[in-house]
Order: sequence, then structure tokens, then C-alpha cells
Amino acid sequence: MRLEARAVTKRYGAHTALDGAAFSTGDDARVIALLGPSGGGKSTLLRVLGCLLVPEEGGITLDGRALPHDEDGALIERRGNGFVFQGYNLFPHLTALQNITLPLREVHGMTATQATQRALELLHRLGLQGHEHKRPSQLSGGQQQRAAIARALAPKPRLLLLDEPTSALDPVMTGEVLDVIRELAEAGQSILLATHEISFARKVADWVVFLAAGQVQESSPAAAFFTQPKTELARQYLEGLSKYR
Ligand SMILES: Nc1ncnc2c1ncn2[C@@H]1O[C@H](COP(=O)(O)OP(=O)(O)OP(=O)(O)O)[C@@H](O)[C@H]1O
Ligand SMILES: [Mg+2]
Repeated sequence: MRLEARAVTKRYGAHTALDGAAFSTGDDARVIALLGPSGGGKSTLLRVLGCLLVPEEGGITLDGRALPHDEDGALIERRGNGFVFQGYNLFPHLTALQNITLPLREVHGMTATQATQRALELLHRLGLQGHEHKRPSQLSGGQQQRAAIARALAPKPRLLLLDEPTSALDPVMTGEVLDVIRELAEAGQSILLATHEISFARKVADWVVFLAAGQVQESSPAAAFFTQPKTELARQYLEGLSKYR
């Protein structure tokens, strides 16, 4: 995919979370990582790119097509995307299987049989055989995240948007979820990932957008960003993190 953002501004009341953010990727970016310090605007940009939020100013194009600015258009656009957000994913009162079949039926118009077939396919692909009929509270954190990824993938999203999908997981569960994301990337799924897992971004991303204070400081092929960051801020960010990894 090729993503371009032009002077995107997004405010929450008096607070400007994105302040003229602009970048463009190469033509064939598959996994784009949004990196940068906490509060820099990664989640906000991810939501804008996924059409969960409409910016006050500026615009986005995806493969040359302008994303809609109006609420109705954004709603239709966002149905074509899959989202996974740490901690807020599954409906607690539904089983893993029902969590996937409900949106397939209600939002995507599948019959119960089609939805069940597709949900089982995804649950098995993500290694959740035998867990189909458990509720989220009966699954481990890593299993819950994998079920959430299965749900996001079930309608065959154009874009899969992941916001720190591993932030509350222990290292083993983090590894499980990261393996899944890596396999998806290798299978050709377009992915946008906001993360603090620099070592993972390094393995999986082919493009990096580095954000701080609501502005894009760098937008580079991942290999270039990690070896030769252009800005002092990115250098400090990578060095600061590398002390702990
Ligand atoms: N719903 C909201 N209402 C008001 N301010 C918000 C809201 N969401 C985010 N902000 C503010 O906007 C700025 C950008 O937040 P955002 O969540 O995009 O940052 P982030 O880069 O994802 O940070 P983190 O790495 O901590 O997840 C922050 O200053 C934050 O406090
Ligand atoms: Mg965030």
C-alpha cells in the first residue's frame, strides 16, 4: 500500500494531538510501524488512518484514493478495516466463537452458517482450537489477543490496525501474539502497527513513521530508520530504548 497524509490536524477539545502531521510511504509498504514517545500522537494517527476519527484539517490518501472526511463515509470506510486495541477487545459475555460471528452477521451480513464457518477457520488458524466456546475471562491474555486478531481478520479487512497489541502481556504471550502478526505480514496482510516494541517493529515493519508532539519527524524505510535515523530525536529514542532491550 501507499499511504500519504497531508497536514493532518486532530484536536481533542483545546488539545492538539496531531499538528499538521504529514508523511508519505513508498508504493509497496506492507507493514507500517508508528513509533515515537508516549503522547506523541501514534494512537490518534492510527485512528485517523483507520477512519475511526475524522481530522479537522488535512487529508489522507490510500493508494491514491482520498479517505472520506464525512462521518457517513468514514463509517463505511472503517467497516473495511480490522482493529485490535490492547485490553478493550472482546465482548466479555460472549464466547470466542460468538465474538467473531456476531459482527460478521450484524455488520457484514453473513448468514449464521457462513459466519460460524469463517470464525472457526480463523480461530484454528490462530491456534485456538478447543477454546472456541470459552468466554474471555476463561482465556489467557495471549489467547484473548489472538481471538481479537481472529475477529479483526474474519471479514478480510483491507487494513489491519493494531494499537500496542501486546502492551499488557508477559514475554511469552507477547511472543505468541508477535508470531501471529509476523505470519500475517508474511502472508501479505497490510498492517498498521502502533507499538513500543522496537525490536519487533524492527523484524516486521518495512516502513516507519516516527511521531513526536503531534508531528511526523521522520518517514523512512524501516532499514534506513533503524540504522540511520535522520533526526536527533529519533536517535535518542532508539538509543534510550536500546538500553533496555
Ligand atoms: N480522547 C482524548 N481526549 C483528550 N486528549 C486526548 C485524547 N486521546 C489522546 N489525547 C491526548 O492527545 C495526545 C496524543 O495521544 P495519543 O494517544 O495519540 O498518543 P500515543 O503516541 O499513542 O501515546 P502512547 O505511546 O502513550 O500510547 C496526548 O497528549 C493525549 O493526552
Ligand atoms: Mg497510544
